[in-house]
Amino acid sequence: MARMVMMVFCVVVTCMVVAETYGQSITCDQVVSDLSPCYGYLTNGGAVSSACCSGVDALNSAANSASARQPACNCLKSFYSSNSGINLSNAASLPSDCGVNLPYKISQSTDCSTVE
Ligand SMILES: *[C@@H]1O[C@H](CO)[C@@H](O)[C@H](O)[C@H]1NC(C)=O
Repeated sequence: MARMVMMVFCVVVTCMVVAETYGQSITCDQVVSDLSPCYGYLTNGGAVSSACCSGVDALNSAANSASARQPACNCLKSFYSSNSGINLSNAASLPSDCGVNLPYKISQSTDCSTVE
C-alpha cells in the first residue's frame, strides 16, 4: 500500500515538473481536449455545461501570456475550421457564457499574431 502511494506521488511530482517546464506553451491537443465538452454547445447552442466551462477556464489559465495565447488562438481557429458543424456565433459567445474573460475574440477572422 505504501509503495502504491509512493508511486502515485512520484507520478504526480513528475507531472508537476513537466508542467512547470512546459508551462509557457499549450498544445493543440490540450486545446481540443479542453473544448471537447463544449462541442454540443458549439454546434447546437443551448445551455453551456459546467464541464465545458471548466475547459474554457482551464484553457484561459493555461494560455496566460502572449506567447502562449498566440498558439492557443491558432489551435482554436484550426479546431473551428476543421469542425464544419461549429456555429461561430456560439463560439464567439462561449467565453462570456462561461463568465470567463478571454482577452481575445475567437473567430475565423481573428489574426492570432496580434493577440497579446
Ligand atoms: C448560430 O447560433 C445562433 C444563436 O445561437 C443562431 O441564431 C444562428 O442561426 C446559428 N447559425 C447557424 C449557421 O446555425
